[in-house]
Amino acid sequence: MTQDELKAMVGRAALAYVVPGELVGVGTGSTVNKFIDELGRMKDRIAGAVSSSAASTARLHALGIAVYDCNEAGELAVYIDGADEIDPCGHMVKGGGAALTREKIVAAQSRRFICIADESKQVDKLGGFPLPVEVIPMAAQRIVRQFTALHGQATLRTRDGQPLVTDNGQHILDVRGLSIDDPLAFETEVNQWPGVVTVGVFAHQKAQVCLLGTPDGVRTLTF
Ligand code: 5RP
Repeated sequence: MTQDELKAMVGRAALAYVVPGELVGVGTGSTVNKFIDELGRMKDRIAGAVSSSAASTARLHALGIAVYDCNEAGELAVYIDGADEIDPCGHMVKGGGAALTREKIVAAQSRRFICIADESKQVDKLGGFPLPVEVIPMAAQRIVRQFTALHGQATLRTRDGQPLVTDNGQHILDVRGLSIDDPLAFETEVNQWPGVVTVGVFAHQKAQVCLLGTPDGVRTLTF
């Protein structure tokens, strides 16, 4: 089974967690794109979506699904999103698609986080995937030095030779070489550094359920 097929499988399985008649929180990425495509089939049975990125909003709109601003929506029953890494407690690293800030906002507004991922994303400990951190551009080099003090090598993410600009008009650092022993404490600490918008560790907004795509089918992990 290809990785694409595994992603499609969990995207389909996530439909079971969508609450009819309610708004659904929608993440970002190639796995979520599979979920959005499936959601199109039940669009008449949901109130609409709250989206975590311009890319997901465009895909939802293309399928005729209404997208609401976070400020118009109350608490969401469920948020469905992918991950770059997920540990045995449901803590995740996210932000490979540069949407981490809005993802964390929508996750915080949701009662349940359902993570959808192929089995390659399951890890014993976070830190193998370069950690995305959204930063205010003027603080970037100071934050690079703060990561150096933690033995992390931070580099500015670029696209077409220019710094990548997020949906929020900010930049992304990708940090290699970190050993994240305590995800909750790490997230709390880095979030306090001046100029950090969002760190891509999702420990405070962890998943309650992970639908993991494997060649033997969907494995459901609960945390
Ligand atoms: C985007 C994310 C994605 O959820 C994460 O990068 C996983 O993406 P994919 O489903 O394409 O592997 O955090 O910011």
